[in-house]
Amino acid sequence: MKKITVPDILKMKEAGQKVPVLTAYTYSMARAIDSAGIPVILVGDSVGMVEAGYDTTLPVTMEEMVYHTRSVVRGRTNALVVSDMPFSSYQVSVTKAKKNAARLVKEGGAEAVKLEGGKSRIETVRAIVDMDLPVMGHIGLTPQSVHRMGGYRVQGRTRTEAEVFMEDAIALQDAGVFSIVLEGIPAALAGEITAALDIPTIGIGAGPHCDGQVLVVNDMLGLASDLKPPKFVKRYADLRAVITKAVGEFIREVEEGEFPDKEHSY
Ligand code: KIV
Repeated sequence: MKKITVPDILKMKEAGQKVPVLTAYTYSMARAIDSAGIPVILVGDSVGMVEAGYDTTLPVTMEEMVYHTRSVVRGRTNALVVSDMPFSSYQVSVTKAKKNAARLVKEGGAEAVKLEGGKSRIETVRAIVDMDLPVMGHIGLTPQSVHRMGGYRVQGRTRTEAEVFMEDAIALQDAGVFSIVLEGIPAALAGEITAALDIPTIGIGAGPHCDGQVLVVNDMLGLASDLKPPKFVKRYADLRAVITKAVGEFIREVEEGEFPDKEHSY
């Protein structure tokens, strides 16, 4: 396996090769999914919800993103690491956005940054791309806009909304992003946007026509909360059940004096 770079991701679209992406937030998870061959790891601001227990991604700070990015970078060998710009790290001013994007690369070790939004973010995207830092866009259901959207609802169901997302995607491509996450939009619209772009689209809750797919690793491994996962999440393992069983055995063995035995003692 070889180190994956931004140009490799662009070539995957040209070659008609799908791009699998997973989130990770820790050294150990990054090691596990990198050695399984994942080409792209996203250090998502979803860390705030799935690891810190917040209701939204809004409280996540730059310091937290730098910390988690560093941990992931130390754990991966081949995957491209993309780090999310958290809420208020890029919306306040272009200067602040440039500084914060640079921090994720310089202090965190990320190879690209992701930020949410379409036409309203073009100036910011251009400014970061002009620093030679690769940017991934993110449109559709943008979790940092949860309060404007009134919840985590599928977006782009009306023709007008769909047209806005198509224009956003083209404007982001023109501004120089190397790929775009399409989240929570109808599959047909995601297919139209994917066909209109030269850069890869990475879908989450956006159907099968995208060039790649991303899932939150805690969701796909069954490590998330007890709540029923959204329709688009496929659970590939039930690690929570594995943990419950292992911890139950440990408790019983300690209580009954079975652990530590001779084999695990000096
Ligand atoms: O924060 C995140 O994990 C994300 C993905 C869901 C695309 O933005």
